Amino acid sequence: MKWESDSLPSTSLSTSTRPRRSKTMQRLLFLGGLSVVALVLCYSRLYDGFQSTVFHHKHHHHKPQNAHEITARCRQLRTRAGPPDDFGRRSTSDRFEEGTRPVLIKNAKIWTGKRNGTEVIDGDILIDKGLIESIGHLDVTSDLVASYNGRLDVVDAKGAWLTPGIVDIHSHLGVFSSPELSGSDDSNSLKGTIEPWLRSLDGLNTHDEAYPLSIAGGVTTALILPGSANAIGGQAYVMKLRETSERSPSSMLLEPPYHINASFPNPNLPRRWRHMKHACGENPGSVYSDTRMDTIWALREAYTAAKKAKDDQDNFCSRALSDDWKDLGVFPEALKWEALVDVLRGRVKVNIHCYEAVDLDGLVRLSNEFKFPIAAFHHASEAYLVPDLIKRAYGKTPAVALFATNSRYKREAYRSSEFAPKILAEHGLTVLMKSDHPIMDSRHLLYEAQQAFYYGLPCNLALASVITNSAEVMGMGHRIGYIKEGYDADLVIWDSHPLALGATPKQVFIDGIPQLGRAFVTKKPDNFQKIPRVPNFRKEAERVVAYDGLPPLEVKKTPIEKATVFLNVKTVTRRTQIGVQTSFTAQPGAVEGPNNSLGVVLVEKGRIACAGDQATCGLHTLRERKDIEYVDLEGGSIAPGLVTFGSPVGLEQINEEPSTNDGAIYDSLTDSVPALLGGNTAVVRASDGLDFGSRDALLAYRFGVTSAITAPKSKGFFGGLGVHFSTGASSRLEGGAIIQDITAVHVAVRHFGKPSISTQIAALRRLLQGKADGAAGHYFGLVRTGQIPLVIEAHSADIIATLVILKKEIEVDTRKLIKMTITGGAEAHLLAAELAEAGVGVILVPSRSFPYTWENRRILPGPPLTNQSSIEALMDHGVVVAIGCQEIWEARNLPFDVAWAAIESGGRITREDAFAIGSWNVERLLGVERDHESVDLVATRGGDFLDSHAKVVAIISPDSQTVNMVD
Ligand SMILES: *[C@@H]1O[C@H](CO)[C@@H](O)[C@H](O)[C@H]1NC(C)=O
Ligand SMILES: *[C@@H]1O[C@H](CO)[C@@H](O)[C@H](O)[C@H]1NC(C)=O
Ligand SMILES: *[C@@H]1O[C@H](CO)[C@@H](O)[C@H](O)[C@H]1NC(C)=O
Ligand SMILES: *[C@@H]1O[C@H](CO)[C@@H](O)[C@H](O)[C@H]1NC(C)=O
Repeated sequence: MKWESDSLPSTSLSTSTRPRRSKTMQRLLFLGGLSVVALVLCYSRLYDGFQSTVFHHKHHHHKPQNAHEITARCRQLRTRAGPPDDFGRRSTSDRFEEGTRPVLIKNAKIWTGKRNGTEVIDGDILIDKGLIESIGHLDVTSDLVASYNGRLDVVDAKGAWLTPGIVDIHSHLGVFSSPELSGSDDSNSLKGTIEPWLRSLDGLNTHDEAYPLSIAGGVTTALILPGSANAIGGQAYVMKLRETSERSPSSMLLEPPYHINASFPNPNLPRRWRHMKHACGENPGSVYSDTRMDTIWALREAYTAAKKAKDDQDNFCSRALSDDWKDLGVFPEALKWEALVDVLRGRVKVNIHCYEAVDLDGLVRLSNEFKFPIAAFHHASEAYLVPDLIKRAYGKTPAVALFATNSRYKREAYRSSEFAPKILAEHGLTVLMKSDHPIMDSRHLLYEAQQAFYYGLPCNLALASVITNSAEVMGMGHRIGYIKEGYDADLVIWDSHPLALGATPKQVFIDGIPQLGRAFVTKKPDNFQKIPRVPNFRKEAERVVAYDGLPPLEVKKTPIEKATVFLNVKTVTRRTQIGVQTSFTAQPGAVEGPNNSLGVVLVEKGRIACAGDQATCGLHTLRERKDIEYVDLEGGSIAPGLVTFGSPVGLEQINEEPSTNDGAIYDSLTDSVPALLGGNTAVVRASDGLDFGSRDALLAYRFGVTSAITAPKSKGFFGGLGVHFSTGASSRLEGGAIIQDITAVHVAVRHFGKPSISTQIAALRRLLQGKADGAAGHYFGLVRTGQIPLVIEAHSADIIATLVILKKEIEVDTRKLIKMTITGGAEAHLLAAELAEAGVGVILVPSRSFPYTWENRRILPGPPLTNQSSIEALMDHGVVVAIGCQEIWEARNLPFDVAWAAIESGGRITREDAFAIGSWNVERLLGVERDHESVDLVATRGGDFLDSHAKVVAIISPDSQTVNMVD
């Protein structure tokens, strides 16, 4: 018989027994006794899932009428989770949408996910009925293809890379939706730290703007986790991102457990995997004012209750199954604990947000005390320091789900390392990369894998970390994550090797349905089709472990009296009065080698004394000098250092730790500013709050982002004065530490709620009309007369339009041009022509837009969704464009960001443009005036600075007259 709830009586307890139980229940609660059984009985009244036994007659101690159902249910307690044995023989996907046409993809380079992610085959794939029907060489004249009678869409992949869809093991898409509006955050309940009964499904918004964006990044499946505000935040669900014809949240789920509607179609089949979120450490702690001790206790108490409920059920069932019904009573329900009971039965994939060794240790002990396996530790920033601890968890070793470089934002993440994926994999642990969307836009989850690969995770494992292994860890490895016959037809055709920076889907199939109407991708150079070469970071990875996560980051300075000769240099690019120019390129055909047939660069006192071939720079004579250090760049380059803007780098060390930060300034528009400061006309300088030597500043420096322009941290309209400083300096008193003390005046015009946009504009108008006194009067006077730029953070096109009008209004009045720069600028592309005409430049922050809020929802998403990115659209109209970032850890990634912009443009943004976007334009737009000769230069080994296979080895610093060795 079928085990269906609706085939059973609708109430679990007969009305006559209800009040009595209720009273017992109250008494037990009142006495505070361990009342799990009673609780369980009470909850069963509310639970419409499983139904309890109904006795015909209360005093009749023999087999109940529905004994068969009870024993069926009892047997179910023992079934494992996972697919049924014959799953692989299905001929149609349960997610197949009627009318989906079969597709034959010809000529693809297929990464199958098989053989530990090493198998690549050249061939064709036939997809039909939502499944991969066949893989191999499928001649269009073959019987199989012929059997479709021309009903087949044929796609020629022309040798392009094809992988299974990207699988995100950690996402809040739909439950923390975009743009952020009230009710967007359905991921954290704040009703208690233990809430295993909650379901992320119940908050899943089907209108999140991120669905099509993430699909455009090749993401097809995601595990939607509750947030981390609770020790147990609730149940998670696996979802495919495509629209369904039903348009409901439930129809988006992949193989949902039958618990979602309590319809258990066949008790003899294995259960479907369930998923749950746990968290430990700072997040649940801060929300509930719990110490770590409290959180672990809350977990132990919850697991004890669940274990009691499980034991009650097991005892009940062992009697029922041995036909011992005398005084047995009803099945002990446990509505609130049933999901946690299933964890103890090993039928739930437990995903735990847990950072530090202390937290990992607590959870490993918990898993052993209660004997449940952990699917994955997420964030797990210290996992690489304690691999043996992770292996001691109960059952199968948990996987570790990481960010690549998103680090140090709180104490727990302070020891994160970009080498963690490599180190963990070397210890045999399964490494996953995750987005935590929208914390990171999951559209770029593959970029996380690309970075992990760059920092040493082997190629096969890097791809597996966001495809195969994430599918396996979420219990879906039987249908997604591989290109295999009978698997879901979720696949991505890429425009390059998927680990090459900027890899973009040409088409994405989910359940066999093409997701991109028209894909805008440009043809990439042939070398993008090969596995990218990456530097060797073995030494760095060893150091990070040796130093317990905090290796020294200071550089080694060569003494001023020593000269440095760089050998095997392929290109030298420099900044000049007219822009960024390549001043030396090795002869075509010249090869790197012991004879230094590529270029030679001689550096003395921090400046290039000669750059050219061996003869030009007289290498033979140099060889006789004793005061020279030689650095072989192995075909590398020398290029200008980049400039970061947008984050509070230099003003903070650990974002969430106020004691490590400069803090926020008063907002003269809304706060009452102390008279001592000059009242509401006070203006502060970021340079006065600089704190040198943060790990993020030093990492930026080591990765070629040699200076930063930072404005005071403001929570509102009024900003203050920016500063330009060296990210590598150790103190403000060091030569060259401050490049320019005051750069520009910063304000923000945003939808903060209050005061209104019109109020903010009114304030700005008054300031620009020269009506303020004091310091504000002085600096806005300089803005008014074009002597210093006004930098305005604004995202909405309407606000930007108003600012353009205001600028003109003032200029008519003063007959002087105001220097105005927009930062943020997500919607600036809508006004590209007008901005160009008004001479207003734009710094895009972040460089790849995302519709976080209403005021920046109208983004230009770029390939494959639109032909142009925002950067290109603005440049096309002649707007001066630069890019920035929001958080301090991102500063180091600027080389990747500018390279990506250039790659994405298909060559329309040249290498020199890319350098300008990341250096010269940033300075120009933010009021830096400097001698181009004094700009730091970055020497990279093994490739161009903007290639993802190069490694920075030295910074040439004219200001300190030294060459600073990184490697
Ligand atoms: C999988 O690949 C990694 C890295 O290439 C290797 O270290 C590991 O031993 C492989 N595992 C198996 C089971 O082959
Ligand atoms: C209940 O959910 C399952 C998926 O778990 C689905 O297949 C089934 O159709 C649903 N039943 C009803 C009555 O909605
Ligand atoms: C290259 O250098 C090697 C020794 O380093 C030398 O034997 C050889 O003659 C050189 N070749 C040329 C073409 O200079
Ligand atoms: C994309 O834009 C460029 C100009 O930036 C244009 O030359 C090209 O034709 C466009 N491509 C498509 C497919 O529209």
